[in-house]
This record gives sequence, C-alpha cells and structure tokens, in this order.
Amino acid sequence: MNQSVAHEANPMPRKRVLSGIQPSGDVQLGNYLGAIKGWVDRQDEKDNFFCIVDLHAITVPQDPNELRHQTRSLAAILFAAGLDPSKSNVFIQSHVPPHAEACWLLNCVTPIGWLERMTQFKDKARNENRERMSTGLLDYPVLMAGDILLYSADEVPVGEDQKQHVELARDIAERFNRLFGDTFVVPEPIIPEAGARVMGLDDPSRKMSKSFADIRGHAVRLIDEPKEIERTINRAVTDSYNEIRFSDDPERSGVNNLLGIYKVITGKTTEEVENDFASARGYGDLKRSVGEVIISELAPIRARYVQLMDDIAELDRLLSLGAAQAIAVSGPKVDEMKERIGLVLQGGEL
Ligand code: AMP
Ligand code: TRP
Repeated sequence: MNQSVAHEANPMPRKRVLSGIQPSGDVQLGNYLGAIKGWVDRQDEKDNFFCIVDLHAITVPQDPNELRHQTRSLAAILFAAGLDPSKSNVFIQSHVPPHAEACWLLNCVTPIGWLERMTQFKDKARNENRERMSTGLLDYPVLMAGDILLYSADEVPVGEDQKQHVELARDIAERFNRLFGDTFVVPEPIIPEAGARVMGLDDPSRKMSKSFADIRGHAVRLIDEPKEIERTINRAVTDSYNEIRFSDDPERSGVNNLLGIYKVITGKTTEEVENDFASARGYGDLKRSVGEVIISELAPIRARYVQLMDDIAELDRLLSLGAAQAIAVSGPKVDEMKERIGLVLQGGEL
C-alpha cells in the first residue's frame, strides 16, 4: 500500500460536535447566523450530533400542542437549512432517555451555588416569582451538561450567550472525573467570530431572541415571507449619524448590527463590507441591501421547509434515525456513569 492510500485508510478521527436548540418560539436569524449556519458549514469535517432540546423547553410553561408543532417545525428547519441526515444525527432529546438520566446523576455532583451563579438564570429569576418558577429553570445547565458529556463531544458550537453554560459543563466533567475517575471528555465551546450575537432589530441593546420573535419588528424569523423580511428590516432601529461603518459605540449598535448581519451572510471582510456601502446614499440603501442578502439566503430554506412540513411521516422517520444513533452512543455512556458511581447495572457490571 503506498503512503497516500494508507493515509486515506486511516484518517485523523473527526472531532465530535454536539449542539442543542430549543423548540420554543420561532427560529430567528440570530439562531441561524450564531449557530445553525456554522453547524451546516462544518458538518463535512466533523462527527455531528444536533439535539432538539424539548426537555429544556418545558422548564417554562408550554402549550402541549404548540410544543409538539414547534418541535417538528424546528426539525424541518434544521434539515431545510442544510443539515444532512447522512452526515449529521439530528434527534429529539426526549427520544433518548439517557439525557434525563444523566441530568439526575450529574445533579448529584453539581453544587447548587454553581447554578445560582449562572447569568441566564439570574436574568430569568429577576423577573419571575420564585413561587411560580420551575426547579427545571435552575437545573437547566445540568441537563445541558448531560447532553454534551454523554456524547464525549470535543466541540460545542453555540452563540455567545451559551458560553457560560458550556464552561459549567466543563466544570461538571472535571469534577466527575476527579470524583470517579476519567469518564468524560472536557468539551470546548466554539463561538463564531461573526454572528455570535445578533441584536434585536427593534432594540439593538438586547440580543435577538426566539422568545420575542412575535413582537413586531424584533426579529427576522427563518420562515418569514420575503415581504415580511423587507418590512422588518425597513423598520430596524438605526441612529442619526448617517454613517455606514462598523462601530462599537452603543449609540450606533443598530447600524453595526445590520452591517454584522450583512457581513456574516456574504462572508466578506469588514473593509469589503464598508466598501460596498461607500457610495450608499443613506440608511435606506443599507436596509435595502441587507434585506436582499437575507432574503436570498433564507428563501431556499423556506421552500425546503414547506416541503418537509408536508410530509410529517418522513420527518418523523429522519428523527427516529437520529435517535437510534444517539442512543447507540449515549446508552453505554450513561451505564458507564452509573457503574462509576456505584449503581448496580441491570444484568451485571460492564
Ligand atoms: P436558543 O434560541 O436559546 O435555543 O439558542 C439556540 C442557539 O442559537 C444557541 O447556540 C444560541 O447561542 C444561538 N443564539 C440564540 N440567539 C442568538 C443571537 N441573537 N445571536 C447569535 N446566536 C444566537
Ligand atoms: N441551552 C441552549 C440554548 O438555549 C440549548 C442547548 C441545550 C444546548 N443543550 C445543549 C446547546 C447542548 C449546546 C449543547 O441555546
């Protein structure tokens, strides 16, 4: 065998990637640019698991029928956006029992103080009555740590807002390894350089969020019609400087956000983007161009989404394939966790 053939036969193992997304609210441009697009772009180089985290979604009240619809709709969006079932295992978290099991096991090694310090929890807790807030909301990052650690994920590609939760998963992995011996891969958060934080179009001081996707003018939803996208972008908050440049001045964050969106979608450099607008006459021109690039990116996704939602049986079949692959990896891992902890495995030790 010559060397190049030998090399092909024994390639470097692919990095294992796992990420998750909640089926609550409508998927918006920030989810796409901060997370999904990167998953799609790199799926050829990696060994991929993408989890639709319905158990995370129920940490806040959900309407049952709406949740069911949103879960399938999200699956259709992920496939429509380009996740290919032959390269990426896309599955529903609740189809894979080891996730809930791992959460319990990890709960018992996670100090409660670590959870009370999470920024997302503190933000949510500030606006909620503790008598109504679910325990799940506090425990949310432990379930997420389980999602990641069960798959021995090397990389966790997420938007900036989830970095702290991935760091917590690292701390939990290290603690478990210390207590019970080397069990988990310690994962790395992978945050995209551009698109990591797409801001609300109605209020560029807060991030674009699924939870506000229904508020007029806040977000471009992935399956919006082109006319709707145009309207939302035209309404986007800007400023009175009338200068189309990147800037970290908070007063200019609206324009900066529009330029950022344009930059990630076109893949251009900062200079190239600013050049594109050198002869623009004003924010009207900027909004027109940004609207156009968004529409040309999203229109084919929308068309595939409509087709997929027309054949729910096929969609469910693809999700079952993903779940089977997920169980094949996470089942033995959760048994390993149980054995290390000292639980008696049904049928004897591993
Ligand atoms: P979630 O909407 O919280 O389920 O988030 C799913 C993924 O999208 C996570 O990786 C988030 O970090 C990412 N994400 C959510 N909102 C944004 C945003 N406005 N900008 C960039 N990434 C985001
Ligand atoms: N908490 C993440 C979010 O709201 C979603 C998520 C759940 C996740 N489990 C995960 C992300 C595992 C990455 C890895 O965005």
